[in-house]
Amino acid sequence: MDHDSYSLPLSRRPRRLRQNQAVRDMIREFRIEPAKLIQPLFVEDVETQREPIESMPGMHRFGRNDFIEELKRLVDLGIKGVAVFPKIDPSLKTGTGREAALDPDGLIPRLARTVKEAGIPINLIADVALDPYTTHGHDGVVDAASGEVLNDATVEILAEMAVNYAGAGVDWVAPSDMMDGRIGAIRDTLDESGFEKTIILAYSAKFASAFYGPFRDAVGSSKKGEYLDKSTYQLSPSNVREAMVEVDLDIHEGADIVMVKPAGAYLDIIRRVRERCEIPLAAYQVSGEYASIHAASQMGWLDYESARDESLLAIHRAGADLILTYFAAEVAGK
Ligand code: PBG
Repeated sequence: MDHDSYSLPLSRRPRRLRQNQAVRDMIREFRIEPAKLIQPLFVEDVETQREPIESMPGMHRFGRNDFIEELKRLVDLGIKGVAVFPKIDPSLKTGTGREAALDPDGLIPRLARTVKEAGIPINLIADVALDPYTTHGHDGVVDAASGEVLNDATVEILAEMAVNYAGAGVDWVAPSDMMDGRIGAIRDTLDESGFEKTIILAYSAKFASAFYGPFRDAVGSSKKGEYLDKSTYQLSPSNVREAMVEVDLDIHEGADIVMVKPAGAYLDIIRRVRERCEIPLAAYQVSGEYASIHAASQMGWLDYESARDESLLAIHRAGADLILTYFAAEVAGK
């Protein structure tokens, strides 16, 4: 070893720039801003309700009125976008999900009309996928004989669903289903119906992940403790290049913003996508990521606020412009 390079006095002392809070603030490279955070919210078709979601501490299933109140609170905190997820009454679910998903008086269209009539200045983002509406919880139509999740039959419904939502006032549609060709079909159908201003946030690199567990619990799309395998349409966690193919296709088909999901375990994918394209990139810090930080903190094994903030910084640093996170309101308000 060359001992000369360790000889004193040291000419390079990186710790100079860490010696007090003021200098640390001045050299800070990344910062989480409220405008970059999108809050996911759960809703249920009742007038007033704030039902806590057990596996997602601090999150609730809001009734219609409470949802509107919550939106106003988020606006005051500087949040510009909210992603809404419905828990649908089981009696309305069917094998295809078609009836409830295309109902112009369904929960999401009714809420969207209320938000627009009230003039709440927030972007309303709604998932386009069939899982809240199907009895089996898959994101698409399941062929009764083979059990296969049918691509083209699903895409047809999703395109109509996007128009149904856009017509009611949803600002961004977010296809989260991972069917082939759905971005192009949704874009065409929206445009033909006069909704050329509706933004498409594409769940482009969405992986078949174990980290969606608490979410499925929250919207009632799978039975508690039961893992629903979506690996014939969601990406394998082992594949990077395949994820890039999905991103390229979605951009080609007309996505305005692409998304990687989950976030924390897929920072390499976020970085790759960021370097690959010039359109905005979102990342979704999913329910299981949120629940893990809460659970470990409750055990006293992690410091809650620093673990939370560090998890968000990592996602931003990897290259995400926007972050969907259950921490959004809390972090924006601190
Ligand atoms: C539905 C959907 C899921 C999530 C968002 N939209 C679950 C799934 O694909 O099974 C997960 C979000 C989260 O876990 O926070 N297509």
